[in-house]
Amino acid sequence: MSFTLQINGQKRTVDVDADTPLLWVVRDVLGMTGTKFGCGMGLCGACTVHVDGQATRSCITPVESVAGKSVTTIEGVGDTPTGRAVRHAWLKLDVVQCGYCQPGQIMSACSLLKSTPAPSDDDIRAGMAGNLCRCGTYARIHQAVREASV
Ligand code: FES
Repeated sequence: MSFTLQINGQKRTVDVDADTPLLWVVRDVLGMTGTKFGCGMGLCGACTVHVDGQATRSCITPVESVAGKSVTTIEGVGDTPTGRAVRHAWLKLDVVQCGYCQPGQIMSACSLLKSTPAPSDDDIRAGMAGNLCRCGTYARIHQAVREASV
């Protein structure tokens, strides 16, 4: 079936099965490999993208459910003021270790800061709780979200 999505501000039409996870459409069909596969079960946050501005696990989101909606991936989120602030904070605080989970971490951070521009420590902990990091960069992630807040 054919589905038209708005990806990072561009209209893209893909021809895939209706239940194809958005993650595989983004990575394999559209060639945007910044969004990562971790668990495939909605548990780790590595595949986080924004759908109409909401942080969404793309591994458990069928493409048919986002037809006509606006999807932002890690490749596009840096074009927003929040994305720029988060990227700057991530670089300044040297957050990344292996890096695999970081696109998902950044997408969740941007979503959190968009809805809560000046989050408390508890807000940051709650907003980032669904994103796992095997390297344990949680303290730097927390500081970077604080740095990027207003
Ligand atoms: Fe989607 Fe883990 S790969 S939540």
